[in-house]
Amino acid sequence: MEKNKSEIIMSFLLNRRSVLAAKLNEPGPSKKQLDDIITAGIRVPDHGRCSPWRVQVVSKEGQRKLGKLLSEIVEKNDEFEKKEQIDYWYNRPQSAPCLLIITLSPNRDNLSKIPIIEQELSCGAFCQNILNASHALGFSAQWLTEWPAYNSEVKKFLGYNEDTKILGFIYIGTSLEAPKERKRVISSEIINYFD
Ligand SMILES: Cc1cc2nc3c(=O)[nH]c(=O)nc-3n(C[C@H](O)[C@H](O)[C@H](O)COP(=O)(O)O)c2cc1C
Repeated sequence: MEKNKSEIIMSFLLNRRSVLAAKLNEPGPSKKQLDDIITAGIRVPDHGRCSPWRVQVVSKEGQRKLGKLLSEIVEKNDEFEKKEQIDYWYNRPQSAPCLLIITLSPNRDNLSKIPIIEQELSCGAFCQNILNASHALGFSAQWLTEWPAYNSEVKKFLGYNEDTKILGFIYIGTSLEAPKERKRVISSEIINYFD
């Protein structure tokens, strides 16, 4: 690869940051851009070609309906602080112009050869490629789970079985300001050597 190109790509990888879903504005990706983003997602390591990733693209109306459901769940659940939380969760899925829901669809015929953890890892890589492709196109994004990813009413509402794993709600949009740097461990803290 040309030096200039590899420097650009490395700088992109070394500086990538998520932007909070609440700070993602219009515009979101066009249909073609979203297709490219998802196609980049598919280009991940996938042992045994299990294709264990699925994406639900949530339309504006879908985002509103999902928000309505979340606010209703909050309203009837005593664990949540009331009014503010109801509004918060009504608006949450509508935070960004584009919302993707990534689920694990394990290839069960292959499980003896490709254990579930490997299929889950491929899904994680899928999500990361979606973030990277979104950022590469000039958008910002955030990968969230929060309680809705683990809630059976939410799963049912979205058309999934109780045992479906929602691995992420990925919000994509345009950030008006660059995110501040986030404190991270440095490489020497996580590396050990074996000779
Ligand atoms: C599987 C997964 C689930 C996540 N869920 C949440 C979440 O529910 N809430 C949250 O604040 N951040 C969550 N995050 C973290 C954010 O996606 C993001 O990494 C964080 O805001 C830091 O930004 P960075 O990507 O620039 O490091 C999750 C990350 C992963 C990998």
